[in-house]
Amino acid sequence: MRTHRCGELNEANLGQNIVLCGWVHRRRDHGGVIFIDLRDREGVVQVVFDPDHAEAFSVAETARSEYVLRVHGKVRARPEGTVNSSIPTGAIEVLASQLEILNKSETPPFPLESEIEVNEETRLRFRYIDLRRPLMQQRMKLRRDIVRFLRTFLDDHGFYEIETPFLTRATPEGARDYLVPSRTHPNAFFALPQSPQLYKQLLMISGLDRYYQVVRCFRDEDLRADRQPEFTQLDIETSFMDEHQIMSLMEEMIRRLFLQVLAVDMPNPFPRMTHQEAMSRFGSDKPDLRIPLELVDVGDLMEAVDFKVFSGPANDPEGRVVALRLPSGGDLSRKEIDDLTRFVGIYGAKGLAYIKINDRAAGLAGLQSPILKFLPESVVEALLHRCEAETGDVIFFGADRRAVVNEAMGALRVKLGQDRGLVQEGWQPLWVTDFPMFEWDGKQQRWGALHHPFTAPKASQEELVANPGQTLSRAYDMVLNGMEVGGGSVRIHRTDMQNAVFRLLGIDEEEANEKFGFLLNALKYGAPPHGGLAFGLDRLVMLMCGAHSIREVMAFPKTQSAWCPLFDAPAQVTDAQLAELGIRLRKPAAAPQQAAGAS
Ligand code: AMO
Ligand code: AMP
Repeated sequence: MRTHRCGELNEANLGQNIVLCGWVHRRRDHGGVIFIDLRDREGVVQVVFDPDHAEAFSVAETARSEYVLRVHGKVRARPEGTVNSSIPTGAIEVLASQLEILNKSETPPFPLESEIEVNEETRLRFRYIDLRRPLMQQRMKLRRDIVRFLRTFLDDHGFYEIETPFLTRATPEGARDYLVPSRTHPNAFFALPQSPQLYKQLLMISGLDRYYQVVRCFRDEDLRADRQPEFTQLDIETSFMDEHQIMSLMEEMIRRLFLQVLAVDMPNPFPRMTHQEAMSRFGSDKPDLRIPLELVDVGDLMEAVDFKVFSGPANDPEGRVVALRLPSGGDLSRKEIDDLTRFVGIYGAKGLAYIKINDRAAGLAGLQSPILKFLPESVVEALLHRCEAETGDVIFFGADRRAVVNEAMGALRVKLGQDRGLVQEGWQPLWVTDFPMFEWDGKQQRWGALHHPFTAPKASQEELVANPGQTLSRAYDMVLNGMEVGGGSVRIHRTDMQNAVFRLLGIDEEEANEKFGFLLNALKYGAPPHGGLAFGLDRLVMLMCGAHSIREVMAFPKTQSAWCPLFDAPAQVTDAQLAELGIRLRKPAAAPQQAAGAS
């Protein structure tokens, strides 16, 4: 039907007779001449209709936004003064000789110009139109370029792409499962995979050596900008490689990806930081290194002060007291500090003490703070010295249980960085390593796996059992600009170690056999040392597009409440379907979109 795509035309096509198909992006009637910006996947080109071609001209008069057209015409240079250097086709235009309307369109529910803000629910309800917007088309293209590059890289490095089932059993990755009732096995349910973790380990036991998959994962968890109930992983597993070899191959892939797709040079090698250092300096296991602010431990200075808020956590092995200096932050108003106090409150902080340094040379008299009265001068001086405070700065304090301080002050650091325009340009990747094997779950009074229960410890079985809380794992996360884009580990490949980890997690032999018997068995038949990781593909694409939510880089995402406005899913099913599955609902369901759609 066509000879070229609209957005591909340029001066090389001057003088050519061409045929285009596309949508009316914009139509301008300049009395006597009609201009139509015709759009397809590759971009927009200006088509000119003049009354010399009377038939085409009169059809053009009836064309409206989003009509689908087929145009015959000739490429010519734009007259001087009308060149549009902001679009690739801006030096040329097409003089139309014939015009055919392939289909009409109702007025779209929102204009397609990228700059115009449209409510997200409307965008998702009319996603097929939303995806026509040039910005969304660019994102889909970038996503395709990224996936294509990654596949090629892995193919070239001896990886096999192998598909694994969606109808399976629960894989513990820390979220709730999406369940699928089985008709042929009454009362039994499949779980959709939270990841293909166990399958990929089995593939290594099968001797397939290197596996990858661009694969959908399903997790029923609380959603945020960087989380969706179904999302895509680039899932990878290798045999006979240790964590250093895996990390260096993976960062090589990401470095080349950025070079190829964005022409960005990433550091070689990526910096590596232990989990402990990341928590201590940034209060986060995914620090955004573009923000030049750091937490400073001051607990030792606060042990003896007469201010319980600080001395309590300072003397508690589970507590932490930190300072966060904001250079030139002394201009923050009382109201702004109150807002920040409310902000840290979201993370459980009970307050946000601060000291403003109005004049560093003037001693106590040069400071302004609600807590000065509680602190001896020597302590204040030591504090200022340790924080390298200067005139004009403000120092914030967090004191509480370690986890609360890390979360609250880590989040404050990021917020201040963003609000004050301190986030540096560019790309800051790093590996976070040496995670603890376990974290203590106070509610359930037992250990939980920090990564997943198949991660190998950095210790012998005896050491692990003797000291589970202190044992580190062979896990690693790749962090990019403050976002966890990938994570993985070297796995346990011996049955006795896997059993020991299950026992520490409070999974007894019976439960372990019931849930993971197949894995425990497989490990007995010559399982090779193996390890791997999974990238959150949507997150990677989002960062590379400069988008603010993974929903912006998925063709058909769900809303924050895990609802699809386009298909109106989830939806009710018929009584006959339920009966076939042996399911009776406890109460007639409310219309699901109302229950779920209030996001
Ligand atoms: P993990 O659970 O860390 O590891 O997931 C790997 C990566 O997937 C991305 N991710 C998500 N992206 C969007 N929405 C979500 N709900 C979501 N959850 C996770 C993150 C994360 O880094 N099987 C292991 C990997 C392994 O050990 O090899 C796993 O799934 O970017
Ligand atoms: P108060 O004695 O409760 O009025 O607190 C004095 C100052 O300490 C106020 O600025 C509070 O915001 C701050 N503050 C209270 N609790 C904490 C805490 N856990 N961490 C940091 N600052 C706090």
